[in-house]
Amino acid sequence: MSVPGLDIRLLDIPATIADDDGSFAEMVRVRNETEAAALGSFDLAPDPAGLLVEYHDRWFDRRIWVARVEGRIVGRAFVELPLEEGARIAVVEVEVHPDWRGRGIGSALLELGEGQAAQAGRRTLQAWPIHTRGNDGGERLAPPTGFGTLPAGDPGVRFLRRAGWTLEQIYRISRIDLAESTARTADALRRGREGAGDDYDVLVWAGATPPEREEDQAALYARMLTDAPSAGLVVDPEEWTPERVRDTDSRAEQGGYLLVTAAARHIATDRLVGFTNVYIPSDRRRPADQGDTLVLKEHRGHRLGLLIKAALHEAVPVHSPETTAITTFNAEENRYMLDVNEALGFVPIGYQGVWQKSLPEAR
Ligand SMILES: CC(C)(COP(=O)(O)OP(=O)(O)OC[C@H]1O[C@@H](n2cnc3c(N)ncnc32)[C@H](O)[C@@H]1OP(=O)(O)O)[C@@H](O)C(=O)NCCC(=O)NCCS
Repeated sequence: MSVPGLDIRLLDIPATIADDDGSFAEMVRVRNETEAAALGSFDLAPDPAGLLVEYHDRWFDRRIWVARVEGRIVGRAFVELPLEEGARIAVVEVEVHPDWRGRGIGSALLELGEGQAAQAGRRTLQAWPIHTRGNDGGERLAPPTGFGTLPAGDPGVRFLRRAGWTLEQIYRISRIDLAESTARTADALRRGREGAGDDYDVLVWAGATPPEREEDQAALYARMLTDAPSAGLVVDPEEWTPERVRDTDSRAEQGGYLLVTAAARHIATDRLVGFTNVYIPSDRRRPADQGDTLVLKEHRGHRLGLLIKAALHEAVPVHSPETTAITTFNAEENRYMLDVNEALGFVPIGYQGVWQKSLPEAR
């Protein structure tokens, strides 16, 4: 190894943040500094307790290997294996703090991550890194979707191409300032209600899904995978049950998040046909994370997407007066969702590449 004192090992995931010996929190700090170097802000940075609950999601095996130099964390490899029956993919992502790049640490971490995926029998690898915007007029790389480009000179773009990965899709990261967009929210609510007419209304709740709505919520989560644009990506199935909805809601609470949901109800059948939610972190002044948004295909064309998102923007300050902003990720080709978000006042703050690599059967 060309870096003296480099040590790469599996990170112990503490049961709760109170059980952390400091390593998990240090990993999160380095992770967030690395992300901010590409994004240009700490808008997305999760806190340790908030990130920890993702490692206690029973439907995924998520692990982190940390690279340390003389005891200090300088980078990490993240490997996620969906645990559903028949799952084929593995997410493999590596990050090296900007102060420690160009020494082979990233390559060592990627070799380890790809090896872990191969050992688990996963042949399709995916990565979702955030890239620099590179507005310097240099060469750009476009995915086959034809929507969006990345700077070819970005360190992550160079690194993944060299390692045999293919860019499949680009996600736009956007942010909204809630106080600045109140007039847009009001206008969107009016237009949304017009489109919904007497057929639909909106239910808003904070915290766990009401028990009588768990079944509908499970069906909506299951449709996220089939109804959102996924370009040329291999998509593993996800089975959603009321139990999984309860588990998801309770992990959000354990992570210190306030989950606020707005759902569209088809009045005649009393069924939920769309929903959108945000995760407000324990420091309520930090930007909230947009969770999922979906309107079932068979109920599209009634401005329900606009209606539920505007209802959510109206509800967030009611449940959390200190919250001033929301961030969201959307596929660059998802024009319907981007139209809604742009109308509400979201502006782009960065881009995420969606990468894939197929491993040969025998390695
Ligand atoms: C992409 C990333 C992980 C690379 O980390 P790194 O530690 O710099 O990776 P390496 O050192 O192995 O390789 C980086 C470059 O240094 C070169 N290099 C590797 N070892 C070297 C050494 N000993 N001496 C000089 N250069 C070296 C590599 O050839 C590579 O060159 P290239 O950019 O021309 O292709 C890092 O830039 C990063 O964290 N970016 C943000 C997150 C991201 O984009 N991740 C992508 C994967 S999901």
